[in-house]
Amino acid sequence: MIREQAQEMSIRFDSYPENEQFARMTIMAFLVDLNPTVDEMEDVKTAVSEAVTNAIIHGYEKEVGQVLLTCTKVGSRVSITVTDYGKGIEDIKKAREPFFTTRPDAERSGMGFAFMEAFMDEVHIESEQGHGTRIIMNKKLHLLQKV
Ligand SMILES: Nc1ncnc2c1ncn2[C@@H]1O[C@H](COP(=O)(O)OP(=O)(O)O)[C@@H](O)[C@H]1O
Ligand SMILES: [Mg+2]
Repeated sequence: MIREQAQEMSIRFDSYPENEQFARMTIMAFLVDLNPTVDEMEDVKTAVSEAVTNAIIHGYEKEVGQVLLTCTKVGSRVSITVTDYGKGIEDIKKAREPFFTTRPDAERSGMGFAFMEAFMDEVHIESEQGHGTRIIMNKKLHLLQKV
């Protein structure tokens, strides 16, 4: 059902790798009533997956911390935030560059932010070293006529 009033959900989980899938599935479940296209679902899933993986792998590296995922929908506009309270990003401009990674050892491609930007309409990064990182991603879904 498409409501014009804002509707919000949030979940908080430990930064274990298997919770990336939990986050992805939760977002899908929350958005399914907007009747997104398969492509839109894939876009949002990929973007959330990249942001949550970053929180787990880069934000907390070897320690386990909390990741907060929120999603707000207003009509067909979707806003997603992924927050960690880990080490923070040293240079946000550099981090956004395609192929830039600080973890080549972990076989990272450096394409996470490039994917988020490609698949969402807007990507904002807020980060403070030693305090954590928040990724805010917005996307307007197209409304399919329900039959
Ligand atoms: N949540 C985060 N906390 C700390 N650093 C981060 C976070 N997200 C991204 N980064 C930094 O930004 C870089 C680029 O991220 P990304 O484009 O996803 O590439 P990759 O994850 O493959 O390294 C990472 O290598 C890391 O240094
Ligand atoms: Mg990444």
